[in-house]
Amino acid sequence: MLVSATEMLKKAKAGHYAVGQFNINNLEWTKAILSTAQELNSPVILGVSEGAGKYMGGYHAVVGMVNGLLQDMNITVPVALHLDHGSFEGCYKCIEAGFSSIMFDGSHYPIAENVEKTTQLVNDAHAKGLSIEAEVGSIGGEEDGVVGMGECADPNECKAIADLGVDFLAAGIGNIHGKYPENWPGLSFETLDAVQQKTGMLPLVLHGGTGIPADMIKKAITLGVAKINVNTECQLAFAAATRKYIEEGKDLQGKGFDPRKVLAPGYEAIKATVKEKMELFGSVGQA
Ligand code: 13P
Repeated sequence: MLVSATEMLKKAKAGHYAVGQFNINNLEWTKAILSTAQELNSPVILGVSEGAGKYMGGYHAVVGMVNGLLQDMNITVPVALHLDHGSFEGCYKCIEAGFSSIMFDGSHYPIAENVEKTTQLVNDAHAKGLSIEAEVGSIGGEEDGVVGMGECADPNECKAIADLGVDFLAAGIGNIHGKYPENWPGLSFETLDAVQQKTGMLPLVLHGGTGIPADMIKKAITLGVAKINVNTECQLAFAAATRKYIEEGKDLQGKGFDPRKVLAPGYEAIKATVKEKMELFGSVGQA
């Protein structure tokens, strides 16, 4: 059964580790992430962007697939199904469809409007038992056509949004989605420290987990990050493994064209990536 992400993230913050949010795109992605979490006895959050939700046929299809897999794969570790960077309307669609967690990305609204919309969603999500993440300071890079510049959040705005009762908070600390450019100055630990001082035990979220060096990830966890989002890295691993299969001509040998064979190396590559991240984040054995 799906659970909200509140308890697993409170536990992570108190235990000084982070739970990974891995974004899903299809059945292979979802199976790979769930089976790795179960093997490693780790809690996990499945992230779904609005674009990926649409791609998979819609939010009801996603909920049906995930719930079916939890049952058929005998998954016993805590799993949350979380809308990633949701719009106001998207959040309501996911509440209705059976997600267990939502993120409202109001970072592009003026702070007063972000506060108003977040307040309403906090009330409605909590009434249905869902957890809710909010964002302050837009995360850079491009995701589903949403482009941000990698801002550093204002710690006072973080406190204002935290006080609305959100369960975890994404604060921009110079992180961006996708690959980091050569000249990226790194995470702003000064900002993260200031945000944590204002928000106390509230679990903080680090977006753009792809390509952040291990020592920066570890330091971010010591400064209160309890959820780390990873998307692009699984996509790169999947694409590279699939490319290798095709370039080696394996699809031309015997029944190598069977989609279950074509997609198998990519599936294994996602599993390896998720395992590496769970070990780095310290969530192994914490289910
Ligand atoms: P990456 O694609 O950079 O790993 O970022 C994922 C993310 O933050 C999803 O919200």
